[in-house]
Amino acid sequence: MAITDEPLRRVLVTGGAGYIETRRYKVISVDNNHNSHPKSLQRVAQLARDALPQDASEKDKDSAEIEAVTCDLTKKDEIRGVFEKYGKGGIWGVIHIAAYKAVGESTEVPLTYYENNVSATVYLLQVMSEYDCPRLVYSSSATVYGTPPTIPIPESTRLQADSPYGKTKVMSETIIQDLCAAEPQRWRALSLRYFNPAGAHPSGLIGEDPRGRPGNLLPLLAHMAVGRVKDDKLSVFGNDYPTPDGTCVRDYLHVMDLAKGHLLALDALSPSSNVFDNCPTEARFKAYNLGKGKGMSVLQIVEAMRKATGFDYKYVIIGRRRGDVPDLTADPTLAEKELGFKATHDLETMCRDLWNWQTKNPDGYDTPETSKVNSA
Ligand code: UD1
Repeated sequence: MAITDEPLRRVLVTGGAGYIETRRYKVISVDNNHNSHPKSLQRVAQLARDALPQDASEKDKDSAEIEAVTCDLTKKDEIRGVFEKYGKGGIWGVIHIAAYKAVGESTEVPLTYYENNVSATVYLLQVMSEYDCPRLVYSSSATVYGTPPTIPIPESTRLQADSPYGKTKVMSETIIQDLCAAEPQRWRALSLRYFNPAGAHPSGLIGEDPRGRPGNLLPLLAHMAVGRVKDDKLSVFGNDYPTPDGTCVRDYLHVMDLAKGHLLALDALSPSSNVFDNCPTEARFKAYNLGKGKGMSVLQIVEAMRKATGFDYKYVIIGRRRGDVPDLTADPTLAEKELGFKATHDLETMCRDLWNWQTKNPDGYDTPETSKVNSA
């Protein structure tokens, strides 16, 4: 049967529907709104509606409507409540993104991290099993590699995360892999190891809106340029790393590329996909790096943001930040070869889109509609 004749596949996305625009899947978003804003979902839906062609079918229109459910994934009954609404087999697959992600914080409150990131994943998998939904795309992180022995980093690198946060990602991957090994005819799962997501939707309608002072480099630079963070200097965490300019190197990839990676991964869970054909065992589990394969130093990022914003950044070199590693650059060849994934957006575009979002929404989603008119 041609794919167009099939009913839309319902996909549950935990941790926000983000940037997933597609006419092949029907998104149900579950979130506890801990670090996200309900307005972002309204805007995602608006973008999806705007992208519909004139002659959109009812099915196309249906795909643009996102169902949003508030759910605490550490409460199994709440997850059951979501699945119960659609019944056994009613949800085709899950993209599990929801997690806490601050490395420093995870060293202070590890149990909170293990509960929210690991227990929640176990509960989710149990309920998926109960409701006959054995397909998963898991949002992992380059942090699973700890301090990697080789750069660029292939997926075959041993997993050795340093922080409790990183360990929650390794543990969750392990749990998912064990489940795929236990029921190889039933489960299919892909783990996506994100490198450093950056940028925003090119429309400027959706973007990252961290609560409080941003801890990550690019959002912090955007907040400085827009005047939301008043520091007169950026603190650069160390310039004595074994990298070209001594500052840490990261593999930044545009969130639009990241979103595309999720769609490709979802497609790869279909019966017709052959990504599991070369798995070492019967277990249909695989991990892919999502990165550009191009590393950028902190100083290169500051320079790129200077160009994008026109803001005259000053910086001061301070000591290293605990937990930072010199270089996290992906070897993205496996995802390209097997998923057809290629991160095409360059650093300039990431910075431009981030700045477009920030100027249109200086106070993030709390920006009053009227004050946006003359900006950007
Ligand atoms: C961080 C997390 C990572 C997580 C990701 C989520 C750490 C150690 N790692 O990645 O696990 O998945 O965010 O988005 O927290 N920098 C400065 N000054 C600043 C802020 C950052 O010099 O004020 C430097 C950092 O040392 C780092 C680079 O900028 O080398 C990027 O930092 P950041 O944006 O926080 O990302 P990561 O630390 O790579």
